[in-house]
Amino acid sequence: MLKIKDLSVEINNKVILKDFNIEINKNEIHGIMGPNGIGKSTICKTIMGDPNYKIIKGSITYKTHDLLSLDITKRAKLGIFLVNQTPIEIPGVTNAEMLRIALTEKTGKHIGLFEFNKRLEEICEKLSIPKSFIHRGINEGMSGGERKKNELIHLWMLEPKLIILDELDSGLDVDSLKIVYQNILEYQKMHKASILIITHHAKLLAELNAKYIHILNEGKIIKQGSLELAKEIEKTGFKNLIKTNIIRENTNYE
Ligand SMILES: Nc1ncnc2c1ncn2[C@@H]1O[C@H](COP(=O)(O)OP(=O)(O)OP(=O)(O)O)[C@@H](O)[C@H]1O
Ligand SMILES: [Mg+2]
Repeated sequence: MLKIKDLSVEINNKVILKDFNIEINKNEIHGIMGPNGIGKSTICKTIMGDPNYKIIKGSITYKTHDLLSLDITKRAKLGIFLVNQTPIEIPGVTNAEMLRIALTEKTGKHIGLFEFNKRLEEICEKLSIPKSFIHRGINEGMSGGERKKNELIHLWMLEPKLIILDELDSGLDVDSLKIVYQNILEYQKMHKASILIITHHAKLLAELNAKYIHILNEGKIIKQGSLELAKEIEKTGFKNLIKTNIIRENTNYE
């Protein structure tokens, strides 16, 4: 479903990813772990098509599409969805307004208002969030945890096939986290979606049934394994895997 091949990416003349490879098939749940500042969010934003990241070489193929030739909107229309580490605010545009436009564009059909609102209300209930969120500006004035939940309204409405979760667990209290991962699992099973999870915690990977764990360092995957690998890292840290100094001023990887 998603194939990233020999991808090198830089930002502000600093190489972050170098010969990065990963393959994610339909219905598979993958996790990526790695030290702070190593490039995990860079992977997410590059898949989504953030123009700030410069592709030096390599390819990203999604189904039969060459993703690098498509902008963010086209990638979203193909069914790729990112929950950002820090979801951005879009003041003045409500969830309902944005979703109505996005759905009309995606399906090419006019969506009845009654049916649309009913569906949104059901989703809010499922996520234990107030229905008033429907008509609030996207993430506007919302707390960190509320933003993460708000993004899930979009997930259920837009029905993506590849979900990228960048530190979903940050900012969520224990009860909210449980609601959110149960919710994502329900969605995943229903749609046979693929998920790429970025997290520092093995527990989230276990809760979301991640089968394939990848460790990122020096711009590429340095180790792959099962959930056991994530648990081992939680216990011992990265020191046994990463011999180099992980906090570097200069990341040129030459
Ligand atoms: N706009 C930018 N300008 C300069 N450097 C940037 C920019 N965006 C990212 N970087 C740098 O790229 C590197 C990788 O950042 P990234 O956000 O991908 O890390 P991460 O692995 O997600 O870290 P964390 O675990 O802390 O979320 C960092 O050193 C970061 O400072
Ligand atoms: Mg990050």
